[in-house]
Amino acid sequence: MSKKTYRIGVIPGDGVGPECIREGLKVLKTACHREKVNLEFVSYDFSGERYLKTGEILPDSAIEEFKKLDAIYLGAVGDPRVKPGILEKELLLKIRFSLDQYINLRPVVLYPGVWTPLRDKTPEQIDFVIVRENTEGLYCGIGGFFKKGTEDEVATQLEVNTYKGVDRCIRYAFDYCRKRNKKKKLTMVDKSNVLTYGHDLWMRVFDKRAKENTDVQNDHMYVDACCMWMVKNPEWFDVIVTNNMFGDIITDLGAMIQGGMGVAAGGNINPGGVSMFEPIHGSAPKYTGKNVINPIATISAGAMMMDVLGESGTAGLIESAIKKLLSSGKIKSMDAGKMGASTSAVGDMVAAEI
Ligand code: IPM
Ligand code: MN
Repeated sequence: MSKKTYRIGVIPGDGVGPECIREGLKVLKTACHREKVNLEFVSYDFSGERYLKTGEILPDSAIEEFKKLDAIYLGAVGDPRVKPGILEKELLLKIRFSLDQYINLRPVVLYPGVWTPLRDKTPEQIDFVIVRENTEGLYCGIGGFFKKGTEDEVATQLEVNTYKGVDRCIRYAFDYCRKRNKKKKLTMVDKSNVLTYGHDLWMRVFDKRAKENTDVQNDHMYVDACCMWMVKNPEWFDVIVTNNMFGDIITDLGAMIQGGMGVAAGGNINPGGVSMFEPIHGSAPKYTGKNVINPIATISAGAMMMDVLGESGTAGLIESAIKKLLSSGKIKSMDAGKMGASTSAVGDMVAAEI
C-alpha cells in the first residue's frame, strides 16, 4: 500500500489496442482499489489513425510530457494504410529511445490451463524471462543506400554495440536473475562466432560481470542454438540476456511456446526513468472492434507496470487472478475469436477474480 498517486500515460493506439487497453484499465482499477493504490490516467491519442488525419506522429513536446509521468501503458500501434517502418520508427522506437528504456523485459510463462504447441511440456517447464537490449544494436537506424535502384546498389545497416549499452543491460540481467530467485541462471545469447566485433564486446562484458556475480550461474548460447533449445528443452532457461534484434525474434518464439500472442506481455524499462508497458502483439487490424481479441497480454503488461512501479502487491493480485481464471478452463483458447468469451467478458472475469 502506498500513499503516492501514480500518473500513468495511456496510449490506446490502433486496431485492437483500444479494446485491450479498456480491459487492462478495468483490471488495474479493480486491483488498485483493493490495494488502496492511487492511479491517475492521462490519455494520448498517438496512433496511425491520428497520423493519417493530422500528419503528425509524435511531437517532441509529447516526449517532454512523458518524462513527467510515472509510466506509460500502450495498447498497440500499426495501421495497414501507413507504409511499414514509419509508425514503428517515429512512434514506438522514438518512445523507447528518447526515454532511454534500455531494457525490454519479456517473460515467457506458460500459465496452467493454457495450451502450448510443445507436447508434454508443463507450466513448471516453461517459466523464463528474456531481457532484450532495447536501445541499440541493429535498431539504431544507421545505414544507407548507394546507387539505389541500380544493379550496383549497396545497402548497409549498421549494428551498434556500445560498452555502456551492453554493460547496463548485462548488469540489469544479473540483478534481475538474482531477484527472481529461481534457478539463478543467466544465459547470454549472441552470435559471437560470426559477429566477431560487436558480440565479442558482449562476451567480454558478460565474462567480466559474471565474475562479480558468482551467485548467479552463467551460461552462453548462440542464437540459432537457443531457438532450438527453447523448443526442445525450455526448462533449461531461467533468464536470457540478448541484443535488440535477437531479442525481438526469440521473444516471438517465446510467445508461441507460452500459448500465443494473446498472453505475452512486455515492459520497456528505464530503471531510473519512465517505463512503458505493452502486449507483445500488434494492432491486429482484422479483429478491430469485434470484441474477440484476447486482452490477457495487455492485462499482464499492466501487472508488470505495477511491479516495476514498486507495487508488487497489486501486481501479484493481477497475476494470480489471471492464473486462476486460466486454470479454471473457462477460457477455451488463447487465440482471438476462439476464447469462447468476448474481450470484455475476459476483462470482467479477471476483475471478478480480484
Ligand atoms: C516488438 C515489435 C517492434 C520491434 C516493432 C513493431 C518495431 O516487433 O515490440 O517486438 O521490433 O521491437
Ligand atoms: Mn517483435
